[in-house]
Amino acid sequence: MELNYQQTILLQRSCAYLFTINHAQNQNFIESLSPERLKKAFRKKVFQYHPDRYPDETSEMIIKRQERFGKITTSYKILTQFLAEKDKKPVKKISVSKKIIAIGGAKGGIGKSIISTNLAVLLSRLKKKTVAADLDLYGPNLHLYFNKINFKYSINDFIYGNLDNLAPAITKTPFGPYLIAGDNSKLGIANITYAQKMKIMEAVRKIKSSYVILDLGGDTTFNTLDFFINADHRIIVTTCDPAAYLEAINFIKASLYRGLNRLSSLGSSDKSPKDKKLEHLIHEVINLGKKNGDKRIEILVQRVQNELPGSWPLLRNFIKNFRLNLIINMVDDSRFADKLAAHIKKLVGKTLLLNLTHLGNITFHSDVKKSSRTLIPAIHHKPSGKPAREFKNIFNKLIKTAH
Ligand SMILES: Nc1ncnc2c1ncn2[C@@H]1O[C@H](COP(=O)(O)OP(=O)(O)O)[C@@H](O)[C@H]1O
Ligand SMILES: [Mg+2]
Repeated sequence: MELNYQQTILLQRSCAYLFTINHAQNQNFIESLSPERLKKAFRKKVFQYHPDRYPDETSEMIIKRQERFGKITTSYKILTQFLAEKDKKPVKKISVSKKIIAIGGAKGGIGKSIISTNLAVLLSRLKKKTVAADLDLYGPNLHLYFNKINFKYSINDFIYGNLDNLAPAITKTPFGPYLIAGDNSKLGIANITYAQKMKIMEAVRKIKSSYVILDLGGDTTFNTLDFFINADHRIIVTTCDPAAYLEAINFIKASLYRGLNRLSSLGSSDKSPKDKKLEHLIHEVINLGKKNGDKRIEILVQRVQNELPGSWPLLRNFIKNFRLNLIINMVDDSRFADKLAAHIKKLVGKTLLLNLTHLGNITFHSDVKKSSRTLIPAIHHKPSGKPAREFKNIFNKLIKTAH
């Protein structure tokens, strides 16, 4: 039973309500939790918090107790359901399998699809089954880089319900990886709901492969940001041009803010007062004027610690897990590219408190340029050429720093 990031957070949160925060952060504890122990903890908390037990308290306290009691009951339901599901299929590991790699960057023409293609070919050469999925809903063209003009199904067939899973949309390419093609022929495809996006991510996670590479669009629409946020490894691509790296920084900010905005509503349609308070606080801080722009996240952290300490573990884990990787593409001066990467790393570390790893640079190379005309990926055409070596270094670093 594989759990995605949101499910893991939901379980941890439920565990924190019925046990302690330390228990919630201990994967082994959740994995080995028995129904008996869960029931015992539930009974204990019911005894502690049942609103009817303290009729003489102030109405404020009674409301607080009711809120807490509601949380405890929901947490019990979530954990009971988890244990029942777990019994159906033995769980090997609670941890999310970290296989979804998203390639983003808020600009077109900077090489996101080229990098997705070559990384996919490299991974499949390492005997890892790899699927490249075109999630550039506005301008899909990944299929061209894989020289696949005809395909029976595309990602749209899943989005529009013609398929109930992605397996039939996976086609083999001539270069090793498998492909899920995109198709923007149907109007309105780009206007999908958050629930539909999560359904896509769930289906992606269920694909039987070692890796899935998501080739994203060059924009900061919620579609692109939501796919990026929910991947296991996030790679941002930029070039050394200011127009590209300023957009890349913007993309990082936008994705963090979008992730934070979704944080208080993880897994719940009816928000608790605590979630609502967190939501308001996040909203307020993110919309602070320009004067405080660079300090927004620092302010948010301080205010959540002081005003909503119960929500602090959620925020802390979110920021800690929101790791980023950077590739600088089309490089003609590697010293400049390294300096630029160091600058971006420092900036996002200081202003957004995020950890960014510079995976490496890819030279502007005629073999890569040519590959978009011959439709043969550079790494396939020249497996020991310079671009291939650069891709290998990037991949090795990604694996080393993967959490
Ligand atoms: N390292 C590189 N060297 C030379 N040309 C490149 C390189 N990376 C990308 N290109 C070229 O840039 C163009 C845009 O690349 P693409 O991957 O489609 O960008 P995006 O997906 O970001 O819109 C393609 O013609 C591609 O061949
Ligand atoms: Mg592209």
